[in-house]
Amino acid sequence: MNPLRDPQDRRLPRIPEPCALVIFGVTGDLARKKLLPGIYDLANRGLLPPGFVVLGFARRDWTDGDFESLAHDSAKEYARTPWREEVWARLAGNIKFVGGSFDDDAAFDKLSACLDGLRESHGIHGNAAFYFSIPPSAFPQVLKQLARTGMADNERCGGWRRVVVEKPFGYDLPSAKALNDLVDDVFTRDDVFRIDHYLGKETVQNIMALRFANNLFEPLWNSKYVDSVQITMAEDVGIGSRAGFYDDTGAARDVVQNHLLQLLALVTMEEPTSFDAEEIRAEKLKVLRAISLPADVAAGTVRGQYLRGWVAGQRAGGYLEEPNVPADSTTETYVAMRLGIQNRRWAGVPFYLRAGKRLPRRVTEVAVMFKTAPHLPFNRTDVEMLSSNQLVIRVQPDEGVVLKFGAKVPGTTMEVRDIAMDFQYGEAFTEASPEAYERLVLDVLIGDRTLFPDAAEVEQSWRVIDPLEQAWQGTKPEQYRAGEWGPRAADEMLAREGRSWRRA
Ligand code: BG6
Repeated sequence: MNPLRDPQDRRLPRIPEPCALVIFGVTGDLARKKLLPGIYDLANRGLLPPGFVVLGFARRDWTDGDFESLAHDSAKEYARTPWREEVWARLAGNIKFVGGSFDDDAAFDKLSACLDGLRESHGIHGNAAFYFSIPPSAFPQVLKQLARTGMADNERCGGWRRVVVEKPFGYDLPSAKALNDLVDDVFTRDDVFRIDHYLGKETVQNIMALRFANNLFEPLWNSKYVDSVQITMAEDVGIGSRAGFYDDTGAARDVVQNHLLQLLALVTMEEPTSFDAEEIRAEKLKVLRAISLPADVAAGTVRGQYLRGWVAGQRAGGYLEEPNVPADSTTETYVAMRLGIQNRRWAGVPFYLRAGKRLPRRVTEVAVMFKTAPHLPFNRTDVEMLSSNQLVIRVQPDEGVVLKFGAKVPGTTMEVRDIAMDFQYGEAFTEASPEAYERLVLDVLIGDRTLFPDAAEVEQSWRVIDPLEQAWQGTKPEQYRAGEWGPRAADEMLAREGRSWRRA
């Protein structure tokens, strides 16, 4: 068989069927900085079908042209790939806008009629995805409107109808369940795409490649050889203008419940029987269910809040000084926790997770720290500069993988020191990595659910976070200066167990 014609060949570019992408909340940051530029990048790479339509919906008195010019400027400013006006020109004719608020029946009737019209005019065969780039409080109303107008009804529309829901997916387990029920009432299960944009990052997908395409790591990937695992998500930025969202949310709900637990699941899950979405999810869910919390939450977790300080040579205000943050807020901007995984592979191995804003620099990584060799046939002085082996998956920036091990220092004496073997995406491949949203939007349009957590995973992740949130009720966060690696208590938490955080 000609491999180029093999439908199983996943290297072939995947191009969706003609369809429309309806974006609710087009004026927000996500749409302007990620979605619209991502759509341009896909068009630029030739991955969108002819007749692909972007339909914006927002409370604005705009014409199609007004929206097109916002989309143009946003795409041009934030696109990953080089700007080509002729690519935009092809998209521009297919950019439409419907104005109205979420309680405006007439506006949704108009949206529905517009989609019906596109069936003929653009040959979209009724295919449309609805992207909820809106606050969760608005989800119920928009879902109700989609149900009322029949826009979510695959059969009535004669094509597929999908919904893309941005995180946060709920605030705790009960609200996540309520939201799942609500979405399930309107869309069929397979048509719901929950976004966790970390899963769209190349380096995060590479965790599966590293583990399951190689034979080298698997024998070491267990409590016999692994001492501990550290997952770090550090950001140098503060909360910017997001106080309204962030102050009710905090670091644990904002990024641990989703991004960090997904990273943990990918690093620790068993090998799926195939790369089918359902198989991967089943394995992730199993390991999420095996997560154990520290017996003493006060000793096994640390919450922190940044004070004013300096980050990368710039003065940074404290969290309580950020616009619209209440003066007595106890919301955490940093969190560290020690989790366990109760299964044969991982029992006894601590998993240290930390995430924080206004840390010295932006870095996300997973560090697998191996046990030291059981016996070192060297003098103590020979190995003074040797630490334990580490495999570090650098999610961002400097995407890649680093393996740290000991090597002899050249010379006539025996001295063993740490060295690093460094794989960098930027050097090893000529093709630049797509942005997470670029990849995920394409997957939605193709209908590939592999990189989207399902309802059970989301609910299970809340089962991990909820008891911690309850235990933290009424407690005050520790303080750290902007530009420090979190509160001292986080260092002490590891020191009590004879470990320290890796210098990320
Ligand atoms: C989002 C969080 O999910 O991820 C933000 O809500 C955070 O608080 C962002 O800044 C970080 O994403 P990335 O891709 O820059 O690591």
